[in-house]
Amino acid sequence: MKIQSAHSWPILDSRGNWTIAVELTLSGGAKAQAQVPAGASTGRHEAVALPAAQAAANVNVEIAQALTGRDADLPTTDRFLIALDGTHDKSRLGANALLGVSCALARALSIAAQQPLWRTLRDIYQPSRPATLPRPMINILSGGLHAGANIEFQDFLIIPNTATTMHDVLQTTVDIHRAVGRTLRAQGYVLTGVADEGGWGPLLPSNEAAMDVLSSQLEGRADIAIDVASSHFYENGQYHLKREGASRTAEGMTDLLASWTERYPLVSAEDALAEDDWQGWQTLTARLKDKLQLVGDDFFTTNLTRVKKGIETGCANAVLVKMNQIGTLTETFEVLEAAHAAGYRCVVSARSGETEDSFLADLATASGAGQIKIGSITRSERLAKYNRLLELERSGDLALAGPVYGR
Ligand code: PGA
Ligand code: ZN
Repeated sequence: MKIQSAHSWPILDSRGNWTIAVELTLSGGAKAQAQVPAGASTGRHEAVALPAAQAAANVNVEIAQALTGRDADLPTTDRFLIALDGTHDKSRLGANALLGVSCALARALSIAAQQPLWRTLRDIYQPSRPATLPRPMINILSGGLHAGANIEFQDFLIIPNTATTMHDVLQTTVDIHRAVGRTLRAQGYVLTGVADEGGWGPLLPSNEAAMDVLSSQLEGRADIAIDVASSHFYENGQYHLKREGASRTAEGMTDLLASWTERYPLVSAEDALAEDDWQGWQTLTARLKDKLQLVGDDFFTTNLTRVKKGIETGCANAVLVKMNQIGTLTETFEVLEAAHAAGYRCVVSARSGETEDSFLADLATASGAGQIKIGSITRSERLAKYNRLLELERSGDLALAGPVYGR
């Protein structure tokens, strides 16, 4: 099978920013589209996304010309595109252009093979690990760059831990999301609409107030995960918690998390320290790795070199996997493989700027990662993925991953 044509055009994402769609046609007639997400609290070491119009033009001219007539093999195509781009950060053709082609090709191959996308991905990249429905960690309260910097920490999430089906995970989430909304209103906090990922974005006095409200509504049905996204309030060796008028060192941040593990059902903390604070991460990991899943997002940026360095130096024990941080599916699966081989957990994640594409649900399932982070249970760009997971559950041949985090 050969690649017959590739097209791209600008579309809007969930924040009203331009991103791209890519459509690929194969010689047998299979045709598929993919849409590319975009972050707001991006890491410094991410591959470079070009403005949508430029990325689309690169697909329509240079990439389309180079790919037409080539074999429709996914890893070979990804490697060819990486070489064609020729930069270390995909800044010439755009990581968004490359990822759109990579995902559209995967979907076209699944259509040609008349099988679900997750099976095609699994057969290409993970033939030996069983596919599982990932257990979601779900945003309930937002702060940081996703909610007007009301509080500094970016996400307060739940991981339903008693539910044994995707349906029940989502029912638990709906219950807790509503109960938290009621509690916030009853306590007189101003609800400033929904945040970028669909969670509540209330004006709270402190990050700890968010932990108090959330933990009061769990009824033993869920644990708590946080995304501190600390690179975005780190300056000159200090983490600045402006809302509470305090600053902390890396050690102070580690102390704070340690105290939270005693007081709240906290099991997972993402980007607790800044993206280049390797020394801080080492100490944090040595102290808390047995109590917490310590996830690197901006810290790793789904970059194999950074993940390997983290493994070698004892930093973190889990990787947030965002395919557009690196720009191709082949490199995304390489990171998943390296993490798994080292005993690091993986959380497959959406971006704060998303589209109605449900690709991520199949990616997480195929990889056997065991965890997925999509955002809240409002806003349809989030629900496209949750509803796809419900559809996959209906097929009956996929089990929901157990609670694989923390304690
Ligand atoms: P982003 O945020 O997509 O805005 O980078 C998501 C996250 O930090 O996990
Ligand atoms: Zn993050």
